[in-house]
Amino acid sequence: MTATKGLEGIVATTSSISSIIDGVLTYRGIDIDDLAVNASFEEVAYLLWYGKLPTKPELDELLKQLGEYAPIPAGVLDQLKLYPKEANSMASLRTAISSLALYDESANDMSQEANIHKAVKLQAQLPTVVAAFARIREGKEPVAPKTGVSIAHNFLYMLTGQEPDEVAVKALDQALVLHADHELNASTFAARVTVATLSDIYSGVTSAIGALKGPLHGGANEAVMVMLEEIGTPANVEAVINQKLANKEKIMGFGHRVYKNGDPRAKHLQKMSRELGKLTGNMDLYEMSIKIEEIVTGQKGLKPNVDFYSASVYTSLKIPRDLFTPIFAISRVSGWTAHILEQYENNRLIRPRAEYVGPVDQKVTPIAQRQ
Ligand code: ACO
Repeated sequence: MTATKGLEGIVATTSSISSIIDGVLTYRGIDIDDLAVNASFEEVAYLLWYGKLPTKPELDELLKQLGEYAPIPAGVLDQLKLYPKEANSMASLRTAISSLALYDESANDMSQEANIHKAVKLQAQLPTVVAAFARIREGKEPVAPKTGVSIAHNFLYMLTGQEPDEVAVKALDQALVLHADHELNASTFAARVTVATLSDIYSGVTSAIGALKGPLHGGANEAVMVMLEEIGTPANVEAVINQKLANKEKIMGFGHRVYKNGDPRAKHLQKMSRELGKLTGNMDLYEMSIKIEEIVTGQKGLKPNVDFYSASVYTSLKIPRDLFTPIFAISRVSGWTAHILEQYENNRLIRPRAEYVGPVDQKVTPIAQRQ
């Protein structure tokens, strides 16, 4: 038995949800480039769950359900008020989503019908939890979700208490489409491993949030913004990035386990970053990002991934830095739950082996003789 570090190149399951073939990402066979421009996030969520794009009545029904499910239980709101104000946003999200299960009578109902309802419910409630957490820690009352608007609209509305402008809604909606699913990424794998024990969907999503939090995965978008803040102005880019490369530091938002010739999602976010920069009259973040890309790609051959331009996009949308990764979760919960449903449909316990490299033929030394 020989281990493959990081399971690189290991095919661990079959799936018909999303694919990455020759650098092209598809959801249910539809190119992400097509979806990014021509589909809303709700249409994409439907596509991931049901395997086809919705008709107009099907989409209307989904929007109705999302609106109905969006309010979160009073008990979860009360808990959010008890969290320390400085608590990590992803840790808070992980705890709150886990606690949603306590208030859902169907949490342990393993029927397919109950699980699809819970997938929609989790999709509806996750943005409400993130927005409520963001307001409560600032000493503000949470804003109740609206009905009849998109998830992007509702999230921005719940965050600020004000009607968001069209451009912001469109930009966030497209970002949600781009982040919705990504084959067997680390958090999706974590979700599938968890539910393959026949544990419940809330446990699967809670595991996934824990995996997404790390800076080698979803946490990279926040880490990119930390780097941009550290650099400060386009004039400082060269010195700071060269220093980081000389110190063999990883440049956040670059590189990918699967894409070696570039992440197809990055160009959409780059375009959005440029357009939002123009609109807000501040091109600094975009210009810094472009310069960083030139240096990192030029020197290391590494291309930006989905997280790199997300940082400037979300900052232009006036979203606090530590909500970037929770926003990733608002989108990816669609993919996580689609994979969980797929895992249940054709389940087998996921239990790989480890190559043992420790000592052999050891004996128990009596405790008095141990050093
Ligand atoms: N900056 C500098 N060097 C890098 C970077 C980077 N961002 N990424 C990879 N490298 C280098 C490594 O140092 C390594 O060099 P070496 O062979 O000289 O030691 C080589 O490229 C291979 O890198 P690994 O880390 O082994 O590649 P792996 O496939 O395991 O990791 C990962 C992929 C985690 C995405 C990596 O590129 C990375 O850490 N990037 C920065 C974090 C990031 O942006 N994560 C988000 C990924 S997208 C997502 O999850 C949504």
